Amino acid sequence: MTTAALSSDSPLDTSAWAALRALAEGMEGTTIRSLVEADDSRPGRLTLDAAGLSLDFSRQRVTDEVLAQLRELAEQRGVAPARAAMLEGAHINTTEDRAVLHTALRRRGELSLIVDGQDISADVHDVLDRMGHFAERVRSGEWKGATGQRIRTVVNIGIGGSDLGPAMAYLALRAFSDRDLAFHFVSNVDPTDLAEAIRDLDPATTLFIVASKTFTTLETMTNAEAARRWLVNDLGPDSVSHHFVAVSTNASAVSAFGIDPAHMFGFWDWVGGRYSMDSAIGLSTMIAIGSDGFAQLLDGFRAMDEHFASAPAEANLPLHLGLLSVWNRNFLDIETTAVLPYSQYLSRFPAYLQQLTMESNGKSVRRDGTPVDYETGGIFWGEPGTNGQHSFYQLLHQGTDTVACDIIVVVQSENPDGDQQAMLVANALAQASVLSIGRDAAQVAADGTPAALVPHKVMPGDRPVNLIMLERLDPAALGALVALYEHSVFVQGVIWGIDSFDQWGVELGKKVAMGILSQLVEGIPADVDASTRASIARYEALR
Ligand code: F6P
Repeated sequence: MTTAALSSDSPLDTSAWAALRALAEGMEGTTIRSLVEADDSRPGRLTLDAAGLSLDFSRQRVTDEVLAQLRELAEQRGVAPARAAMLEGAHINTTEDRAVLHTALRRRGELSLIVDGQDISADVHDVLDRMGHFAERVRSGEWKGATGQRIRTVVNIGIGGSDLGPAMAYLALRAFSDRDLAFHFVSNVDPTDLAEAIRDLDPATTLFIVASKTFTTLETMTNAEAARRWLVNDLGPDSVSHHFVAVSTNASAVSAFGIDPAHMFGFWDWVGGRYSMDSAIGLSTMIAIGSDGFAQLLDGFRAMDEHFASAPAEANLPLHLGLLSVWNRNFLDIETTAVLPYSQYLSRFPAYLQQLTMESNGKSVRRDGTPVDYETGGIFWGEPGTNGQHSFYQLLHQGTDTVACDIIVVVQSENPDGDQQAMLVANALAQASVLSIGRDAAQVAADGTPAALVPHKVMPGDRPVNLIMLERLDPAALGALVALYEHSVFVQGVIWGIDSFDQWGVELGKKVAMGILSQLVEGIPADVDASTRASIARYEALR
């Protein structure tokens, strides 16, 4: 296994980059509308299917030539060997000297995968079996709290990757979850988060999952300690083992916290936090949807992994999603992507994707530390449709910035009621059309619009849109959707030559906060800039 496959050279030095630059310049004045109107076969040709999902990128500002050259860029940047290196367990997280093996979390049990002399596939399935056993005991009521009552509420305490994935998945799969159990997700160190989550709960029927890869994260440990105080205050110290379990890679810290190692579910340093929702970090998901449901979620992840690993470039869906992001970012100068799921169940999906995309690819130096002289990770944000239509879509349609849009359509509702699902889908398709095709002055005038209003009603269009469609939002589809974006992020990182799996940029803020905390709590002056000293003084005067 080797990391030699990973380039630290600049992508600007490839012939494909230069060819794409020339193509982009040659396309000035070519609109998405003109591309769509010129070719009836375009939607069929520019739609790919994999793992039960389809990606229609016919509303992107690309030609066949651009697509071919993007695939050539992937070839010249070594996406295929880098993918092989990742899947084999090479230490492609070079700055932390770690393997990147979230795909091993969903491998078939019978397929071994030896990494650093250890069959990690067997380890994964051991933990999955233990999780399954525990989850079923909670679901059936066999697992009892300290007073002998069954668990009614599960509170996951974690942050970042130890919160966003589980919180997103719980909401996404509510239709498949055990309705006799309630779930809360506490992440913020703001004491309000925990206080509001537990204020109406009965400690005797509450189970806390402390989810933290490192088991040192300030927010999570602070909230976990507060939760333990709340429990012990009511039920005494012996109750902790009945009401606390942990998910972590740090067994000694779990034990020091007072959680029985038998109630700890482990994972490994080769699972990045933002890639961990299908590891033991997904324990709350498993309790909600059962071990069979969780197995279906993993099936969906695996189906997309297998497609990504084996489909030829022309048919490879995650490869195209990643390459289209590069095209929009580097050649069309588009800075942000709005993620617009037309599914209330996917309401936290944009927030989940923000960590996946922005913590992974928000980097300014390549693997070897040399600065990039091109744009890297774009900004991802979003809200479910149709709600966003009544707030920020105005800017999407007529603002001065072009925002790329990923519209996600779920065909079948889990709660069908009359025409409501058709209304939802009609809105999604209408927005995809208006954003990309628009409406010019002649069309607006032809509607009888008064001349003075015509410029106000012109819709420029030309906003690139991906339309992702899934039949039903079941566990397998959610797994496939998440894996699609994971691999898209990977493709972008390889093209840019950056390490998508570290996150050094979040460290300094944590350290400075500790210094300020020492000043606020203990009066030890913090070594900070003049503006921060002034802010501290103002805070201290007001508190
Ligand atoms: O601060 C960023 C981060 O390290 C994320 O990458 C991670 O998902 C999150 O904090 C939580 O970390 P942990 O699971 O170790 O508590």
